[in-house]
Amino acid sequence: MKGAYLDNSATTPPHPEVLDLMSRVQEQFFGNPSAIHYKGIEAKRIITAARRQVANVLGVREQEIIFTSGGTEANNLAICGAARRNRKRGDHLVTTAFEHHSTINCFRYLEKEGFRASYLPVDASGMIDLEMLQHEIGPATTLVSIIHVNNEIGTILPLTAIGRIIKTKNPRTLFHVDAVQSFARLTLDPEGWQADLISCSSHKIHGPKGAGCLWVKRGTPLDPLLHGGGQEAGLRSGTENTAALAGFGLAARISGSAQGKKETAFVTLKRTFLKRLEESGIDFSVNGPEPEKAAPHIINLAFPGIKAEMLLHALEEKQVYVSAGSACHSRHPEPSHVLKAIGLKDDLLTGSLRFSFSILNDLDEITLAAKETTDAVEYLRSLFK
Ligand SMILES: Cc1ncc(COP(=O)(O)O)c(C=O)c1O
Repeated sequence: MKGAYLDNSATTPPHPEVLDLMSRVQEQFFGNPSAIHYKGIEAKRIITAARRQVANVLGVREQEIIFTSGGTEANNLAICGAARRNRKRGDHLVTTAFEHHSTINCFRYLEKEGFRASYLPVDASGMIDLEMLQHEIGPATTLVSIIHVNNEIGTILPLTAIGRIIKTKNPRTLFHVDAVQSFARLTLDPEGWQADLISCSSHKIHGPKGAGCLWVKRGTPLDPLLHGGGQEAGLRSGTENTAALAGFGLAARISGSAQGKKETAFVTLKRTFLKRLEESGIDFSVNGPEPEKAAPHIINLAFPGIKAEMLLHALEEKQVYVSAGSACHSRHPEPSHVLKAIGLKDDLLTGSLRFSFSILNDLDEITLAAKETTDAVEYLRSLFK
């Protein structure tokens, strides 16, 4: 592809080996994995292998991986499932103000069911106040749900410290982590975080859409969202999508291997991109954490006086693809709740773009994207002088 695809936090291109495996599985291993004849058993084996691959990348037991249709379903299962199952113990839930909509909207829905929810504010870098978190947790708090890497600005939350606070204050409070943006990209530490539930998604790591998982630590009390044949340890009924799960497993293995090497590659891409933009002399600023402290594959930039959507479409003409606001909400006209939560002023709220990288990007694409961004910014500014 000419140009540069830099919207990898929205979704990634599927890896060629993943596509090849999926088409073979679709064709040959079509049996219902619950069937007891050979066709079922061989499909079940494919799913077991995928479960092992995902569990290995997470560093957990494979029986604890519950396959879902993606990150949204994993977050819903974790949050609604934990809240409802533990209602007799308490009705209070805690999260942050800048979670993905699949978390925030679960919390809002649960409020309608009578739960009490606390949304912790974040500072300009997307950090929560740990003392405030400690203060919020009480005997009735059954769940704390916190994102690992924020999908819009790349803040990495200090989950070890957060887990320690939660479990010290109330050992029975469950800790759910939305790791959709970090799984198989950064190192995850379920044990060190003292997490009980972790959400992951396949299409963010060069796997197919419609696949993901929730890691459920053994013994974690959870209600299912779907009731049926009792697949996935009774937590996610429905005939499994064997090909998608096989693709997810392989994508996890490919993306999860050489993790350290990959992080360094992301850092180089981000540094080069920023250096080229700085050299160009255009006016811009970084939203959220300092670039070196954020997740290496995400950078969110504000271009004062420019409408993000106009810039996005100008870049699109040059086949440079980026995002204005959260992926799932880029068609909604309202400004991003994440950028609002970190306190961006109106002008910057509507003038910010996210650039996100993957292992398939190279330095030529980055240099091209920086040049096209510079040209487009200069052109748009000349129009409104
Ligand atoms: C942090 C985060 N959580 C959850 C999701 C939802 O994942 P999925 O698209 O697999 O439903 C996304 C997708 O953008 C995300 O970035």
